[in-house]
Formats: sequence, C-alpha cells, structure tokens
Amino acid sequence: MAVTTDIYGKLESGTEVHVFTLTNANGVKAKIINWGCCLVSLEVPDSKGNFADIILGFDDIKKWAKNPPYFSAVIGRYANRIANGLFVIDDNEYSLAINNGPNSLHGGSVGFDKVLWNAMEIENGVELKHTSPDGDEGYPGKLDITVTYTLTEANELKINYKAITDKPTVVNMTNHSYFNLAGHNSGSMLDQIMQINASNYTPIDENLIPTGEIAAVTGTPLDFTSPAVIGDRIDDDFEQLKLAAGYDHNFVIDRQAPGLVLAATAIDSKSGRIMEVLTTEPGVQFYSANFLDGSDIGKGCFAYQRRYGFCLETQHFPDSPNQPQFPTVRLNPGETYDTTTVYKFSVTQ
Ligand code: BGC
Repeated sequence: MAVTTDIYGKLESGTEVHVFTLTNANGVKAKIINWGCCLVSLEVPDSKGNFADIILGFDDIKKWAKNPPYFSAVIGRYANRIANGLFVIDDNEYSLAINNGPNSLHGGSVGFDKVLWNAMEIENGVELKHTSPDGDEGYPGKLDITVTYTLTEANELKINYKAITDKPTVVNMTNHSYFNLAGHNSGSMLDQIMQINASNYTPIDENLIPTGEIAAVTGTPLDFTSPAVIGDRIDDDFEQLKLAAGYDHNFVIDRQAPGLVLAATAIDSKSGRIMEVLTTEPGVQFYSANFLDGSDIGKGCFAYQRRYGFCLETQHFPDSPNQPQFPTVRLNPGETYDTTTVYKFSVTQ
C-alpha cells in the first residue's frame, strides 16, 4: 500500500487543495482531496484486469468547490433531510438553513462538503479533520470531526467517521459518491444489478420526508432482497417512485446485531465489476441520480445525465431528529460518534 500527497489545485481564494493517492498492490487507486473530503476517483479492475474510474466527478477544483450534486463528498452534519429545518433537543428548538424546498438538506448552505479539511497521510490512508463551531448552520455544539479513508490489499476502501461534541447535538454523516461500475463516463447505469439487504424501507411524502412508517418492501419495486436490474421497475406506476422520480429512499438494513453488516451489492454484468457495501449504520439511501440533467460537466468533459450513476449513502434515517421511533442521532458530550462503511471490490468469474 502506497500513499502519496500532491497539490490538486487552488481555490479562488488562492488556498491550495491537496490530493492523497492510495494505491494497493493490485493497482486499485483511490484519490481523496481535502476539499469536502471528496473521493475524486476510484480505479478498480474488471474481470479482464482493465481498470476504470467508477466515480462520477470533476477534473478541476473550481468545479468541486461548487459541486451542486454533492458528488463524492462527506456530508454533515446531517445527511439527507430534516423537515422544515427544525428540531428540538431538551426543549431547545434549533433552526437550520433551508436549502431544499421547505427542508434542510445535507447539512445546510455550507455543509462539510464545502469546507477545507486538515489532512495528513496515515498508514494505508489519509486522515481528515474539521471543527464545526457551535451554532454552525444552526446546529448546537462545537463538533470535532475526524474522517479516515484507508485502502486494503483485499480491495476494500474503508471510511471511518468520528465526532465529539461539547453540547447535545445531532450527527449523521455519509459519503455521497455516485458510482457507475462500467466507468464514470459509460452512460446510464440502469442495466446494472442491485441487491439491498433490507426487508423494509422508510416511505416518504411529497417533500421526500419520511412519513414515519417502516414499510415492507415485499411486492413493491423497492424489493431488492434478491438481485434485480436497477432499470427494470424504476418507472413503475408506484406512488413512492413517482414522489422521488425514481429510487431515492432510505432502506432499513436487516441486521441481527450491531457491527459491520452487508448493506448492498451492485454488479455490472458486462465488466464483471462487483461492489459490496458494508456498514455499521442502520440505513442506506439508494439514490438513482434522478436529478442529474447533463448540466454537470465532469471528468474528461463528460456530461452526466439523469441516472448515469447511483449512490448508496449509508446513514441513520432521514429526519430522525423529528422521528422519535427511528434510531437516535443524538450525540452527547463525553460520547464518540463512530461509524464505518466499507466498499469492497471484486469481479465475477
Ligand atoms: C438525496 C436526493 C438529492 C441528492 C443530491 C441524495 O442524498 O436523497 O434527494 O437530490 O442527494 O442532493
């Protein structure tokens, strides 16, 4: 495992952004920048040994600085939506930046995706740190965050997220990479196969906020308990798909005990690339990039159209601060937020 550091580019302010390249003995290569903690590329082999970069993204730091689709970034303090940007902790009401219809999405106007992290090489990876001050984007408590990306010789990219606070607060972090297992510039991913280890999901309303119900996937187009081609049912006449214009749902991962568990497996039959996602989190947002529209011109000047990638955002459930029946996202002083997600790559035989 080799780790190197280089200059990636300069922000408009003139500040340098660094890129950390992790390369294992098999040639798998992950590049991470300290702007937004973004995974800017991930090169993995197909069944013939040909490598492709399977992450949608940009070539240029000026584009990463704007990044409307949240490509590849670490999302915080709160991944996904908080209804009306409001929540209560111990009788204190907190009001967040509203940036998505009536809701607060992905941490507000300046989330963790839009800050420069302090980064350094560590064994087999990179460690990135950020301090979010008390009141940042409306969230209570000074939050000290450490994210590490490490690569193993078993072709696993691991992300660990840790945070501590000095006041009771809420935290829910994820990584927002868009994957296309045929290569970032290969077009639609609708022929790729998905399996999600979830018998239930959290249905949404017209603002994509959970209704509070935990519903069975059985008999619906959200049933991925057996492998299914992503495009086969995506446009079915099913209310939940109409509300989200495709898949954009939190799946409740089936688990017997805490710890790392398989959340999802994606397969591209043509290239033979397989990605397994394991996580300590209770949920995963399967988002089929319904809102990409070709306006994001990415690496190699490639225009990313609708459904050219998919996200598997491991997380606590959306709007949990307002849904007491969901697993808690509260973090108290003296506790450590500590979650891990692993993306493991292999090929079909
Ligand atoms: C959300 C989508 C949103 C996308 C980009 C996903 O995590 O679930 O609704 O459009 O992020 O912001």
